[in-house]
Amino acid sequence: MLRFPKDRFGTNSLKWDKYKKEQNIIPLWVADMDCFSPPEVIDALHKRVEHGVFGYTKVPSELVEATIDHVKTHFNWEIKPEWILWFPGIVSGLQVAVRAVESEPLFTFTPIYPPFLSIAKEFGKNYILLPMRQSAVQVGGNELVKWHIDFDEFKRAIPKEGGHLLFCNPHNPVGRAFSSEELKELGRICTEKNVVVTSDEIHNGLILDRTKRHYCIAEHIPELTERTITLMAPSKTYNIPGISCSFAIIPNAELRRKFARVMHGIVPDVNLFGFTAGTAAFKYGEPWRQELLDYLWQNWLLVRETIGAIPQLTLTDLEATYLAWIDARRISDNPTQFFENAGVGLSNGADFGFPGYVRLNFACERELLREGLERIKNSIAPNKLTAKFAP
Ligand SMILES: Cc1ncc(COP(=O)(O)O)c(C=O)c1O
Repeated sequence: MLRFPKDRFGTNSLKWDKYKKEQNIIPLWVADMDCFSPPEVIDALHKRVEHGVFGYTKVPSELVEATIDHVKTHFNWEIKPEWILWFPGIVSGLQVAVRAVESEPLFTFTPIYPPFLSIAKEFGKNYILLPMRQSAVQVGGNELVKWHIDFDEFKRAIPKEGGHLLFCNPHNPVGRAFSSEELKELGRICTEKNVVVTSDEIHNGLILDRTKRHYCIAEHIPELTERTITLMAPSKTYNIPGISCSFAIIPNAELRRKFARVMHGIVPDVNLFGFTAGTAAFKYGEPWRQELLDYLWQNWLLVRETIGAIPQLTLTDLEATYLAWIDARRISDNPTQFFENAGVGLSNGADFGFPGYVRLNFACERELLREGLERIKNSIAPNKLTAKFAP
């Protein structure tokens, strides 16, 4: 059974320490989960700590085998050990990718996880943001929206020299697990127009909608295998983002060499706790992950039922991730502030390139989520009293 600590105050948690306890703001923002990690991961870390010697380390062959096995079992992709490069975090992997691939311009589909946007500014690289399109969908009796890539616009934006697409699948924040057809269309365009792809697949273990699946673009579109850098990590799925352990899968030897050269001497190695936790997560975490998916799906249904029924808010339907994307432009110019005033801390859509939107992280204990959703509901119907959450 998924277990939760009594609270996370006093544990140096980025998510919980943003607000003081007395402020009584429920933190539903940064993307980590409030539950304990899989017991097998915790046990493995205990064992490693008990040994008591924390010297330099190297990639354990057990982790490489577990990773190859994981990628084959979950995504039907047979990868080779030499294709894998290890580093602490996916954001540094994105940074390395944009330095390693000379092609410009950079493209990304927005709204998007903020570091995708800041990379462009930091580099001064030619960067083209391609807003996704929305369509209305009826789900569970509510009118929601679903976001799609505008392929025609993408095609038109690519110059004859090609470019470099920073892709996010499953997509944060619009919750899409892109379909086979969509990836094929994307693959056709990138192949025809000479676009290199960096595919951030950190959320690939979090397909909440059991009728969908994750496709690794480099596996699914054979023409892209040699022109794609795939970024993955056990961090989101097994709730170990504070124990940094990530990797890139790069089948193309030349691309891999360039990526390794940029990393060399700058990007630190994964530390031994990262290796320990990652190995245990991939080897033993599956039963826990199955429970997690069920729990998160029920949380999502609660979000859908509550937010989906508030006419002033437009909720995005969700296939993957534990992040709900909400259009709150009818409520306020600064909905993050508005909801903080109501006692709920959400991520600001402006950071994702979409002011007026908010992102709600529902990977918390259900009662806490229920309370957060009540506060949101009551803040919009101001005559009702907001109950107090007592942590
Ligand atoms: C799409 C995406 N990429 C990367 C990250 C962060 O990865 P890391 O903490 O490994 O840098 C996140 C975290 O929320 C994310 O959603």
